[in-house]
Amino acid sequence: MTMQTRIVTLRQGLEEAVKLIKSGEVVVFPTETVYGLGANAFDAKAVRKIFEAKGRPMDNPLIAHIADISWIDRLAVDISDEARAVINEFMPGPITVILKRSKKVPDEVTAGLDTVGIRFPNHSVAREFIKACGVPLAAPSANTSTKISPTSAQHVFEDMNGRVPLILQGGACEVGIESTIVDMTADVPTILRPGAITVNMLAKVLGKVKNFDGKILVAKAPGMKYKHYAPSCDMVVATNEKRAREEYFRQKQKGLNPVIIAKKYYLKDTGDEQFNVIDLGESDEDAMRNIYNAMHEAQEKYGYIICQDFGVDGLGASIMNRVNKASGGKRI
Ligand code: TXA
Ligand code: MG
Repeated sequence: MTMQTRIVTLRQGLEEAVKLIKSGEVVVFPTETVYGLGANAFDAKAVRKIFEAKGRPMDNPLIAHIADISWIDRLAVDISDEARAVINEFMPGPITVILKRSKKVPDEVTAGLDTVGIRFPNHSVAREFIKACGVPLAAPSANTSTKISPTSAQHVFEDMNGRVPLILQGGACEVGIESTIVDMTADVPTILRPGAITVNMLAKVLGKVKNFDGKILVAKAPGMKYKHYAPSCDMVVATNEKRAREEYFRQKQKGLNPVIIAKKYYLKDTGDEQFNVIDLGESDEDAMRNIYNAMHEAQEKYGYIICQDFGVDGLGASIMNRVNKASGGKRI
């Protein structure tokens, strides 16, 4: 089976992309968080093709992507006022709400759960494309299972070439990590995956919200139990600058070609030492936007990744959620 994967702009490819979706095929599209691999959410057979292309376990549910808030009523029932408040405040944007599913949503999307994840992305290409399809698109991140999420069309191509017919070009993703997932069916709204919409932002709207604590034994977001976001070489988190430097030279001694991934300030006092560094920029927002791209670049060019610790607050916690998974929790 040889399939040619093509990258096209929305202008070139909208018609063809819509045709593919309507005929039950998959299409990759950009969002502000990461690229998604979409299929008609109401077409069970099309949705199964997503799992095939990704090599994803069928018990991991997908998020349904919409192009208008009114579409939520096609997917969900019993929507609380609190859920409405979150939806109105943060959509379109980098958030996924978990709601009680409508019977119309196939089990392939929800993995048989009685809830469905819904997201209204704020990327002009995603919005136009989904609107033109006229149906919600079930879509996970457009990477093969356990690989790093893609934040550019090129990332998708390198990972999925031959597995999907078409990639819509949308440039580099502005947010850079996957959406915050908030379960609005829990007694207290619960963050299942941290992201650009932080617990504090949600608390302002909801009053009460439970943070993801990492200690859940039976994972509520089924995806949490899988190893995710793994680069092809070893990766560790350095507790501080000194340890990052020591680890760097230790690995160099061993003959590996290490790199340090960090924000600009991190290695400012390195004197004459020369390091391989991937600069994530100045702010936490910069670091969030650049972290996956940095992992992609690091696994291509270097043999060992040392990543700074971004702390436990705000966006830092969201970035660390991904970094800890990528490093398998290894710290020095
Ligand atoms: O930013 C994003 O959310 C991106 C872009 C493409 O929109 N999508 C994304 O999809 O990250 P994916 O499949 O890589 O991650 C979706 C996560 C999984 O961990 C899955 O278990 C969880 O959402 N999820 C989906 N539906 C759920 C549900 N009904 N209840 C609990 N968790 C759910
Ligand atoms: Mg993913």
